[in-house]
Amino acid sequence: MKKRLKQNKKLEEIILQVAEVAQYLWQKGWAERNAGNISVNIDHLIEGDLDDISQYPDFELPEPYPELNNKYFFVTGTGKRMRDLARSPLKNALIIKVTNGGCSYHIFSRHKRNVPDFRPTSELPTHLSIHQKIALRGSSEKVVIHTHANELVALTHSPDVKSKEIVNNIIWGMHPEAMVFIPKGVGFVPYIIPGSVDIAKETLKEFNDHDVILWEKHGVFAIGESVFDTFDSIDIVSKSAKIWFMCKQAGFEPEGLTDKQLDELKETYTSLNK
Ligand code: 13P
Ligand code: ZN
Repeated sequence: MKKRLKQNKKLEEIILQVAEVAQYLWQKGWAERNAGNISVNIDHLIEGDLDDISQYPDFELPEPYPELNNKYFFVTGTGKRMRDLARSPLKNALIIKVTNGGCSYHIFSRHKRNVPDFRPTSELPTHLSIHQKIALRGSSEKVVIHTHANELVALTHSPDVKSKEIVNNIIWGMHPEAMVFIPKGVGFVPYIIPGSVDIAKETLKEFNDHDVILWEKHGVFAIGESVFDTFDSIDIVSKSAKIWFMCKQAGFEPEGLTDKQLDELKETYTSLNK
């Protein structure tokens, strides 16, 4: 399998992009210990089967993802550090193939046998349900990134910021780029225990209308066509939150862009982003 992976230049490029973004997440201070996870739908890059599937361990999924049956994903490993992923992506992430009608997955890793501590992220239910939604609606996003962006986590701790409307007024109001690149605004999921099917379900509802979703008191999930686009969306949203806090720390209430300025941005740039 190693040889086949090495020969697949496009897949190698995606893996290197994941490693690059993992380094950014660490440098941003968003990736303490094993915080955050990344998955990429790589199915379009794999012709035939990577290897004889019966050699690799398979695991049951907490719920079925029939639309993903027989599809391949590159997924970060649970408990793995972004800073390690940046240096050694294949030691800290793995390739999985969803099998058995979407009810289980096989791990295609360097280890053919069952290695107990080498499993996909604990947020796999959320990642796979998002990929399934993308498959069902036929859109072109391939990447899902979850990270603990400090500014966004802090924002959701504010007792005054508990609704999507308030969050989006802050995000759009603090910086023109947010309206230009995140015209759908961000979704908001009230706190639910991480790693659960329940948080996956609530997150999925928000992806009907948004590409970036805040998890209250925890972090952010975003989808995009490329690893870099997805990172950029989180970066832009996070910058708005940072500006909001900077103004408050400097002792004044941020003025925010006016409705007229926001409408003008929407009119000027919406057609460009379609
Ligand atoms: P994993 O190490 O299982 O990916 O978990 C990190 C995380 O951020 C959970 O929300
Ligand atoms: Zn997390």
